[in-house]
Amino acid sequence: MKIPRLALAAFLALPLTASQAPAPEALASQARSLAGNLTLSLQGELFAAMKEGGPVKALDVCRVKAPKIAAETAMGTPWKIARTGIRVRNPENAPDAWEAAKLEEFQKRLSGGEEVSAIEAWEVVESEGRATFRYMKAIGTSSPCLTCHGADLKPDVAGKVKELYPEDQAVGFTAGQLRGAFTLSRPL
Ligand code: HEC
Repeated sequence: MKIPRLALAAFLALPLTASQAPAPEALASQARSLAGNLTLSLQGELFAAMKEGGPVKALDVCRVKAPKIAAETAMGTPWKIARTGIRVRNPENAPDAWEAAKLEEFQKRLSGGEEVSAIEAWEVVESEGRATFRYMKAIGTSSPCLTCHGADLKPDVAGKVKELYPEDQAVGFTAGQLRGAFTLSRPL
């Protein structure tokens, strides 16, 4: 039987890409562990900065270091790593449509009684014509976060937030609420 060359190429290309891509569970496990590393690095930097210079100084650290630490965590891996939020401080962290839908789902799961640390989601989506694995992991609000994301910030903290982030919306949170999520993606 003679198979047209093009059809054969298409046939070979399909199972090949499918078998080369790791299983979704394996990808999710990679993403989960990167998000875990990022949590530890971010918290370490944040708490050290708070202790050393107080929240106003720590705000500067967050602004400069948070994206840098995310980039460093992703370095040498095929992943892109960022944070997003329910209401964001930095407009660059605003969720896209997929992320916004997942955040909404996370809110429902949290109010349905799920532990925040167990809330995650992943999906293979088409992005710019390419199959992309996307993963999100919920970030809860704990009491140390309220210094900068709570309902009544100290005047010096509020002033510095306004100066650095004129469009800030990431205040008014209470402990136990969903603050945002780590968001990771990699092309397949
Ligand atoms: C010292 C003040 C400070 C504290 C304390 C703080 N944050 Fe933030 N947070 C910031 C700043 C500043 C940004 C914006 C960073 C940027 O420019 O990317 C931010 C951004 C974020 C974002 C990304 C979405 C957004 O709003 O832009 C998340 C998620 C977040 N913080 C979670 C937390 C959590 C969880 C805690 C507690 C463990 C916490 N933060 C404690 C200052 C703080």
